[in-house]
Amino acid sequence: MQISVLIVLYLLPKIEKIMEDKNRIIIFDTTMRDGEQSPGASMSLEEKTQISRVFDELGIDVVEAGFPIASPGDFESVTAISKILKKSVPAGLARHTKKDIDACYEALRAAPRFRIHTFISTSALHMKHKLNKSPEEVLGSIKEHVTYARKFTDDVEWSCEDGTRTDMDFMCKTVELAIKCGAKTINIPDTVGYSLPSEFKKIIETLINKVPNIDKAILSTHCHNDLGLAVANSLAGVTAGARQVECTINGIGERAGNAALEEIVMAMKTRPDLMPFKTGINTQLLSKASKVVSNATGFPVQFNKAIVGKNAFAHESGIHQDGMLKNRNTYEIMTPESVGVKKTSLVMGKHSGRHAFKDKLTDLGYSNITDDVIQTAFGKFKILADKKKHVYDEDIAALVDDSLIREENVIKLKSLKVFAGTGEPQKADMTLEVYGEIKKSSETGDGPVDAIFKCIKKLYPHEVNLQLYQVHAVTEGTDAQATVSVRIEEMGKTTVGQAADTDTLVASANAYLNALNKMIIKRKKTAPPPSSSVSQREQKLKGI
Ligand code: KIV
Ligand code: ZN
Repeated sequence: MQISVLIVLYLLPKIEKIMEDKNRIIIFDTTMRDGEQSPGASMSLEEKTQISRVFDELGIDVVEAGFPIASPGDFESVTAISKILKKSVPAGLARHTKKDIDACYEALRAAPRFRIHTFISTSALHMKHKLNKSPEEVLGSIKEHVTYARKFTDDVEWSCEDGTRTDMDFMCKTVELAIKCGAKTINIPDTVGYSLPSEFKKIIETLINKVPNIDKAILSTHCHNDLGLAVANSLAGVTAGARQVECTINGIGERAGNAALEEIVMAMKTRPDLMPFKTGINTQLLSKASKVVSNATGFPVQFNKAIVGKNAFAHESGIHQDGMLKNRNTYEIMTPESVGVKKTSLVMGKHSGRHAFKDKLTDLGYSNITDDVIQTAFGKFKILADKKKHVYDEDIAALVDDSLIREENVIKLKSLKVFAGTGEPQKADMTLEVYGEIKKSSETGDGPVDAIFKCIKKLYPHEVNLQLYQVHAVTEGTDAQATVSVRIEEMGKTTVGQAADTDTLVASANAYLNALNKMIIKRKKTAPPPSSSVSQREQKLKGI
C-alpha cells in the first residue's frame, strides 16, 4: 500500500474510534436520500455534488447518499458522492433484496470506507399488508440479507421500518438477530412520526435492557416529524442511550420531514447541563449548509425556523432590543456567529474588481466553483451594482446560486421584453436558446407572468402543471433582487426552479426555465435501468 493511501486511511473518522468516547453522538445525514423523498425536492447531480462538499466540511459522520437501485440517476449520484467525500463515510440504502445490496455495493465501492444500510418492516401492520410476510419470514429475511450485506463491508446498518409501531418482544428478537448476523448499527425508525418522547425513550431503554448482544452495536434514531416531535423524540432516544441520530438539513424528508440536523446539534451544544453529548459538527457551517440545501431543493426556509430561519436571531420588540443592548444573554441562548450567521454586510460597489469579487465568494463559502461561473456571476454583479444602491452579501450569494443553476440548463433565456400596465393586454417578446438553436416568440397573456410562460411553452412545447409560483425579496428596499421559485408537475414528477434578478419578470422567466430544465434531466434520470447493468454487476460480484 502506498504511503499516501495509508495516510488517508489513518485520517478517516473510524466509527469504532469515535465510539470509544461514550458521549460522542454520530450524526448520520439523510438529506440526499430521505430528504430527497420530499415531494418536489429532487436535486441534480451538480447540486448533490455541491451539498456533499459542504457536508464533508461540516463534519457529518455518515452521509446517506441515496438509494442506488431506485434509478440510474440515484446510482450515478451515490457513486459520485462516494468519490467526493473525504472525511464523511458514504452510505447507500437497500431493501432486503440481493439486487438492492449489490447495487449499493457497486455504487459505494470507490470509497475507502462505506456503509450499506438495509431495512425491512417489522410492525404487524406492515408485515401483513405491505410485505405479505409472516414474522418468521421477516426473521429469515434479516438473517439472509444482513449476512449478505456483510460480505461487502463490516459497516452494515439494519433498520426495522415502522419500528415504533412494532411489538416490543418481536423487535428485540429482530435486533438480536441482525446483530448476530453482523449489523454494527441498529436503527429504530419512527417511520410515520407517531411516537412521543417518553415512548421513544422507553423503546431504546428496553432494547438496551433486553437484547443480550446489544453492546455489539450502536443504537440509532430515525424520527419523522408528522406530529412535530422528530427532534424531541431523537433527543429522548439519545438520553436513553442511542448514539447515532439520523437527520436532515432544514428537516426536509418524507411528508412532514425528518428530525432537523441543525436543531439536534444545537440543542446538545446549548444544553450540555442536561445533555452532555458531543458531535463532530462544525456548527459555524450550519447556516451555509441550510442555504445550499434550500437552494438545491427550492424549498425556502420558513422565517421562524429554529437555528437557520431568517428571524431566528432577530429581535424586534423594544423590550427585547433594550435587554439585548444591556446584556445579550437576556434574550439570546446561543450566538448567531455559533451557527455561522453573520450580520448582513455592505459589500463592494461597482468599482470593485474581479479579484475582490473572488475573495468575497471565498468568504461567503463558495470555494469550489468554476471560473466560468465566477465570470458569469461577476458580469451580473457589475450590472447589479449599476442598478442597485446597496449590494449585500445575500445579493452576491443569490447571483452565484443563479449562475450555478444556469450552467447546466439546455434551454436559456436570451432576451425578454414585457409590456404591462392598465388597458392593453400584457405582452411578452422572448428569445430563447433551445438546445443551441435561437428561437423567438411574442405572446399576450392574463398578466405579464402568464404572457412569459406562454412564450416559453410556444418555443419549447410541453405539458406541465404549474403548482407553485412564489416571489421573495433577497434584501430590503424597492431595488432589492427578487428570488422567484416555480414548481411544475409532469406525470406525477415535480421539479422546482429558482432564479434571482432585480427584475421580477426576468427572474420569473428564468425560474420557470430552471424548473423545466430540471424536468428534462429528470425524464432521463427516471428511465428504467438497462437490465444488463444489473447482470454486469452480478457478474463482478461472483468474484467475492
Ligand atoms: O422512515 C423510515 O423508516 C426510513 C427507513 C428506510 C430507514 O426512512
Ligand atoms: Zn425515513
